[in-house]
Amino acid sequence: MMNLLVLHGPNLNLLGTREPQVYGVTTLDQINEDLVKFAADRGTSLQTFQSNHEGALVDRIQQARTDGTQFIVINPAAFTHTSVAIRDALAGVAIPFVEVHLSNVHRREAFRHHSYFSDLAEAVMAGFGPAGYRYAVDFALSRLAKIA
Ligand code: DQA
Repeated sequence: MMNLLVLHGPNLNLLGTREPQVYGVTTLDQINEDLVKFAADRGTSLQTFQSNHEGALVDRIQQARTDGTQFIVINPAAFTHTSVAIRDALAGVAIPFVEVHLSNVHRREAFRHHSYFSDLAEAVMAGFGPAGYRYAVDFALSRLAKIA
């Protein structure tokens, strides 16, 4: 069975009520439930993890090295623009990943235009809302099945 890991960074636990004009009204639980079902329907196991703490995300990525994770989908949230530590963790475990942002960071403030992840990512999704996670999981499944 294929194994995917979806990681969510800080403040994404507030989705649904957090700046809904930017991030929409879908909650993180709804996003995760949809992804677990989407993957299960395709015979794939999908784990999710959210943290507001940089070190906890680093620890979870390191754990992925030995827990059978074959592909990571990550929305690093604000850590996108600041975290060398999470970047180094992803490079260190050498598991392919897709970077996801609910909003189109490129049409927002200049400080959101730089990412510490995009040059390592297999692909980047920005501005698709919650559907971006689904597209990323779909892409990961195609990659693992060697059809993309
Ligand atoms: C975000 C964009 C980031 O700039 C921001 O800090 C977030 C969410 C997004 O999903 O659009 O928290 O990653």
